[in-house]
Amino acid sequence: MTLPETSRFPFAADLRICRILNGMWQVSGAHGAIDPARAVAAMDAYHDAGFTTWDLADHYGPAEDLIGSFRRQFGRRHGALRLPEIQAFTKWVPSPGMMTRPVVEAAIGVSLRRMGVDRLDLLQFHWWDYQDRRYLDALRHLADLRDAGKIRHLALTNFDTERLAIIIEAGIPIVSNQVQYSLVDRRPAAKMAAFCSGHAVTLLTYGTLLGGLLSEKYLGCPEPGRAELPTASLQKYKQMIDAWGGWALFQELLAALKRVADKHGVSIANAGTRYILDRPAVAGVIIGARLGVAEHIADNTRVFDLALDAEDHAAIEQVLAKSRDLMRVIGDCGDEYR
Ligand SMILES: NC(=O)c1ccc[n+]([C@@H]2O[C@H](COP(=O)([O-])OP(=O)(O)OC[C@H]3O[C@@H](n4cnc5c(N)ncnc54)[C@H](OP(=O)(O)O)[C@@H]3O)[C@@H](O)[C@H]2O)c1
Repeated sequence: MTLPETSRFPFAADLRICRILNGMWQVSGAHGAIDPARAVAAMDAYHDAGFTTWDLADHYGPAEDLIGSFRRQFGRRHGALRLPEIQAFTKWVPSPGMMTRPVVEAAIGVSLRRMGVDRLDLLQFHWWDYQDRRYLDALRHLADLRDAGKIRHLALTNFDTERLAIIIEAGIPIVSNQVQYSLVDRRPAAKMAAFCSGHAVTLLTYGTLLGGLLSEKYLGCPEPGRAELPTASLQKYKQMIDAWGGWALFQELLAALKRVADKHGVSIANAGTRYILDRPAVAGVIIGARLGVAEHIADNTRVFDLALDAEDHAAIEQVLAKSRDLMRVIGDCGDEYR
């Protein structure tokens, strides 16, 4: 491993993770074609560099199968004893319906088989409709499966603060909530982070690099139309920028970040990642990886040596102060899905 010790986070008593997680939505097909053999070879490079923690989901195309292939190959090369070096966090995003024990158990069984594991390191649960309170049934069964050893830790994704409180109140052991969190989308700072800090829940964040928009590549660029944004992520976060304050303000943010980045000899992406890693309750930032197509391993490694100072924060805040309040425009974390 080449990453410093500061890259590690005690996510749970029995689970240390890399604070930059490799995001696998990028293999789903919505970000261009992925060649499975090249993708698995690329996973080796991430792991060898110290990026040992993966974020995936049941519905990210072949993501769970790629983890299975990667683990098999890794086990053959290095021996089964080293397999715990890999942490793979999946999600279950069920369609609305009955949440009986057999339904829940069958879904978890599919992920276990695809990933080639006896126990999921982390299962992050998503739910579409809060009016349908069967999310509590599903979570109780998931907690039982955790107790039965099929899941190591139970987590959520895209739940708002109100429902997270209901779930915690119901005694369901939740370790983390995965939410969108970036310099543009700072909704978690409004309520979610404080609640999490008070209840031993951490945040895993996505959209932190805005699909790649938060980089030198888009600094000074004219506003791109949808057709000029080739991945689902770029399209998703361009909409977020529009809601937040628009392209001209985003250019101001990129320019401010560029000055900060130059001062520290890092990239705009590094500054944006570090800013979110330093927020209360944040355990890790997920950075999407187009496996076998593009990689930023060396650049993202620099995040762990970067410390933003008061002057940097003041320069960033000056721009952010001009943006709209997305809590008002959209609502709390995850409300854009509902
Ligand atoms: N729970 C949910 O609802 C949810 C939703 C969305 C995402 N996620 C998770 O979060 C992960 C991240 O996905 P995201 O859509 O939010 O994308 P993102 O991480 O904001 O952006 C990923 C893209 O940023 C670019 N990038 C990465 N490092 C860079 C660097 N150092 N410098 C410049 N550009 C860099 C790459 O673009 P190129 O490939 O073009 O080089 C990469 O594809 C997903 O894979 C998934 O695991 C979860």
